[in-house]
Amino acid sequence: MSTEHARATIGLTGLATMGRNLARNIARNGHTIAVHNRTTARTTALLEEHGDEGDLVGAETLEELVAAIARPRVVVVMVKAGEATDAVIDELVPLLDEDDIVVDAGNAHFADTVRRDEALAGHGLHFVGMGVSGGEDGALNGPSIMVGGSDHAWERLRPVVESIAAVVEGTPCAAHVGPGGAGHFVKMVHNGIEYADMQLIAESYDLLRTVAGLEPAQVADVFEDWNGGDLESFLIEVASDVLRHTDAETGRPFVDVVRDAAEQKGTGRWTVQTALDLGVPVTGIAEATFARSLSGHTEQRAAAREVFATDPEEQRVEVDRDTFVDQVRAALYASKVVAYAQGFDQVAAGADAHGWDIDLGELATIWRGGCIIRAQFLDRIKEAYDDEPGLTTLLTTAYFADAVKAGVDAWREVVATAARAGVPTPAFSSSLAYFDGLRRERLPAALVQALRDNFGAHTYERVDREGSFHTRWAEPDRPEVAAD
Ligand code: 6PG
Repeated sequence: MSTEHARATIGLTGLATMGRNLARNIARNGHTIAVHNRTTARTTALLEEHGDEGDLVGAETLEELVAAIARPRVVVVMVKAGEATDAVIDELVPLLDEDDIVVDAGNAHFADTVRRDEALAGHGLHFVGMGVSGGEDGALNGPSIMVGGSDHAWERLRPVVESIAAVVEGTPCAAHVGPGGAGHFVKMVHNGIEYADMQLIAESYDLLRTVAGLEPAQVADVFEDWNGGDLESFLIEVASDVLRHTDAETGRPFVDVVRDAAEQKGTGRWTVQTALDLGVPVTGIAEATFARSLSGHTEQRAAAREVFATDPEEQRVEVDRDTFVDQVRAALYASKVVAYAQGFDQVAAGADAHGWDIDLGELATIWRGGCIIRAQFLDRIKEAYDDEPGLTTLLTTAYFADAVKAGVDAWREVVATAARAGVPTPAFSSSLAYFDGLRRERLPAALVQALRDNFGAHTYERVDREGSFHTRWAEPDRPEVAAD
């Protein structure tokens, strides 16, 4: 395989599906791209099958790959997150020169990206954590791209990134979101919101099937209808398609032959772990992540079915089908507002904690297309941030507040009906609890504080004067003293 010296605009190593599709997208958009894979056969196959799509330069080794790229070089690494990425970076660093750029376009944990950024800076190199969302099809035809790294790296990457990203109303769904780990941080939160979105859709399906008695294909019709309104989104569209699909082998609804144990690569889990550290209650995302874990606890589930078996007829709840369908729609929308509000809160908190100046309106803008959570909804979020850049929560912005107020009675009815019917709706229920918690005049946290002071002398504040206090619970008259 021949490589011509230094004429490639960009290089990419790691030609599994995502890397291969990203390379094709870059080539198809007029950029010369040098490509490499540890197994050369994959590189050869890419050139043979898609070499006519653009200017692809094959490289058998990383040395050849680096030699084929014009300075300052950009090398995109698309291998498994974690140790494999570190291994490729370790091999690349000695081959590169000052101001060259290494881009990790996988789903890396942002803390790894911060570490790698600092390590490569010590070699005079620039490291970019680039979130790429949209799955295999997005990588090939137009993803949403979240770049984290230096201005130098962004200026070098920008022409390529903006040419391959999805475009909405003439705007590429790609942005330089901030330095260091900012790109992978927002991609992580994107995936957390994705988890919540998927769980809410799954709970909607379960309620429509179990309580309203709709067959999968009928739920598909409902979702298709919702996709024509303010719930328009990629995930609703795909859910309708999947629920309409019939298993070729059995002739049964496809959803009924899929094992009901959800897996996860880790980005949702990272979102929740990070939110706990930041003190951001991403309850919808957390419940969605835990719901995946619960579904995988098959032994506990079997034991619980045995002990708590109930006659489905006993738990049947009579509803008016059309009324209930619309109530579920309203509950889905309100719960979705909560999930996105929580996700954007986490991005704001992360940016503050790490000193990143992330433009939340710009983030909503680049999530309008290409990514898995793309939805008409993101236009409303962009408008909210355009109107009120420093807003405290999306929930209280005019458009969303009106939507939630209009749907809250239905939301309560759906959560109550689900509880009576024994249908688990952790995302719907936790989102409603978050909404009620946020708007409550007095929370029972007062009792929590009093209990903490009683057994742990952890002190408390009062509503009627400044300062911290402790009550000496063990003394007869239980005097209250100012805490140190
Ligand atoms: C995307 C997706 C993608 C993610 C898959 C699987 O934005 O294109 O989020 O990055 O890897 O959705 O993720 P889970 O295995 O965690 O569901």
